[in-house]
Amino acid sequence: MPRIAYVDGQFVRHGDASVHVEDRGLQFGDAVYEVWAVRNGILFDSEGHLARLARSLAALQIKAPRADQSLMIVVRELMTRNKLKDGLVYLQISRGVARRDHPFPAHSRPSIILTARPMNMAQADARAAKGIQVQTRPDNRWGRVDIKTVNLLPNVLAKQAALEAGFQDAWFIDGSGMVTEGTAQNAWIVDSTGTLRTRPATHAILRGITRDTIIKTAQALGFAFEEKAFSRDEALQAREAFITSATSFVTPVIGIDGEKIGEGAPGPIARKLRETYLSQQTSVKKP
Ligand code: PDD
Repeated sequence: MPRIAYVDGQFVRHGDASVHVEDRGLQFGDAVYEVWAVRNGILFDSEGHLARLARSLAALQIKAPRADQSLMIVVRELMTRNKLKDGLVYLQISRGVARRDHPFPAHSRPSIILTARPMNMAQADARAAKGIQVQTRPDNRWGRVDIKTVNLLPNVLAKQAALEAGFQDAWFIDGSGMVTEGTAQNAWIVDSTGTLRTRPATHAILRGITRDTIIKTAQALGFAFEEKAFSRDEALQAREAFITSATSFVTPVIGIDGEKIGEGAPGPIARKLRETYLSQQTSVKKP
């Protein structure tokens, strides 16, 4: 079965899908994106991602090219055409095609790209059962990483450097020595007093949709929780650490820069949050 993508109103074979050479997403990174997880055919946190998409578009003054409902019809059709049971859906909306010039073009129609790809959930679950090791790297990104734009070069370089150094990912550290987030995930700890902590959603991090759901899950489970930044040292003293994102759900972090966190094994709180999150999402029937 061929993989199918969607580009500007048409479903096309993935290998034939292309954008114009003067698309502003390609020329300037003038585009926003979203990633949804699909597990057992269910699109996770669908409304949260749509709400953030609207915020990102508004921040860049790009007019939403489709209403949410009509966009979701396309997303679901793409899932059907790809027989996507377990995987990811990627959406990108750029300001559109125009002669290369920095200011916003007077007239441009936002371009939409949608792709779907399968993901091996058994592998993802095994990775979470084992936990990952991260390397800290200076946060050298721009000041509005709360907008989900496609400008991900610092994230790409940090991830690559971490992999080359033998880690599975990187955590960014700000100028005050505090952890901001991962290259494509939010960062969390269970601190030495047993309180769950993640950084407040300012301009310094992307406010993850998984993060928001996990905050609610943690509160419903009765875990002590605080939105408060933590340093690398606090993370090393923590009982547990983990990341959250659409692609990792909740995945334990068992070491930082080669030093163990806690026992150097996934902890009970991260495990409980992952299990609860997955069962909540897959038991909620989405319209
Ligand atoms: N990344 N922080 C950053 C920098 C991210 O890129 C992401 C998501 C997150 C977590 O957000 P969410 O929980 O909404 O997935 C936090 C996606 C998955 C990506 O770039 O592939």
